[in-house]
Amino acid sequence: MANAQTHLIVFANEKGGTGKSTTAVHTAIALAALGHRVGIIDLDPRQRTVTRYMENRGETAHRRGINLPTPDFAVLKGDSIEALEEESAAIAQDKDFLIVDTPGRDDAFARHMAARANTLVTPMNDSFVDFDLIGQVDAETFKVRRLSFYSELIFEARKSRAKADGASIDWVVLRNRVQHHDARNKKRVGDALMELSRRVGFRVIPGLSERVIFRELFPSGLTLLDKGHLGELGVSHIAARQELREMVSGLALPERADVQSMDLIGAA
Ligand SMILES: Nc1ncnc2c1ncn2[C@@H]1O[C@H](COP(=O)(O)OP(=O)(O)OP(=O)(O)O)[C@@H](O)[C@H]1O
Ligand SMILES: [Mg+2]
Repeated sequence: MANAQTHLIVFANEKGGTGKSTTAVHTAIALAALGHRVGIIDLDPRQRTVTRYMENRGETAHRRGINLPTPDFAVLKGDSIEALEEESAAIAQDKDFLIVDTPGRDDAFARHMAARANTLVTPMNDSFVDFDLIGQVDAETFKVRRLSFYSELIFEARKSRAKADGASIDWVVLRNRVQHHDARNKKRVGDALMELSRRVGFRVIPGLSERVIFRELFPSGLTLLDKGHLGELGVSHIAARQELREMVSGLALPERADVQSMDLIGAA
């Protein structure tokens, strides 16, 4: 990337359907709502979830004649790493943050961007099926037996990055679609994550709980932070907005003195 000032946040997990696109979109819109200059690049030109979300958002703003803070967005067009570099440099220009959403499979473009990330976010569901990509647990005790290939891969990427430019990648595992009624599983996955985080060196942060609202907002491209455009909000939606704020705060991104604090956006 051409612009060294831009903080690169990559959402990646080779497992499909873990919430990469949903959390990437919400993070991008939250940062834009705070007054940051934000770009988002969609590395899944087949599924185009991020692109569709942003297009829907633009249409809602147009239809209702309202202003909605919206990041600049682009979808991967080229078929080479050089083309990706050019596209990402173009969108990163003058931006505080560039967010990258990657497909849920092994993908050369995703690996390339993950190795360059300042913050690498791996969303996962509270399920040992998702956990299996980063670590394997004992069938009886649920203790971590060994690291899985994805942890090894990121471990290697961080090592070569430190060697190449002395920079570190802040790897963050984000727990998405957490179900509150499933306390036993939540604790087991949480304990295994804690153990693995010490061995691999990632941070664990809270993400979004399982809520229909996160699926329902897609056609309008709105988020829970779009105060005043969502109609009457119930108590559970206000709690969901708080979760969203905590998720973005948990990313511990560099701050700019002239933008609002995360506590203030979309305040009820
Ligand atoms: N917190 C949540 N509550 C409810 N539904 C959610 C939540 N997060 C994601 N979803 C839903 O789960 C599905 C998968 O989410 P998403 O598309 O964000 O995952 P992904 O990791 O980007 O998937 P892929 O690997 O296919 O790109 C979608 O239907 C999305 O609406
Ligand atoms: Mg996706």
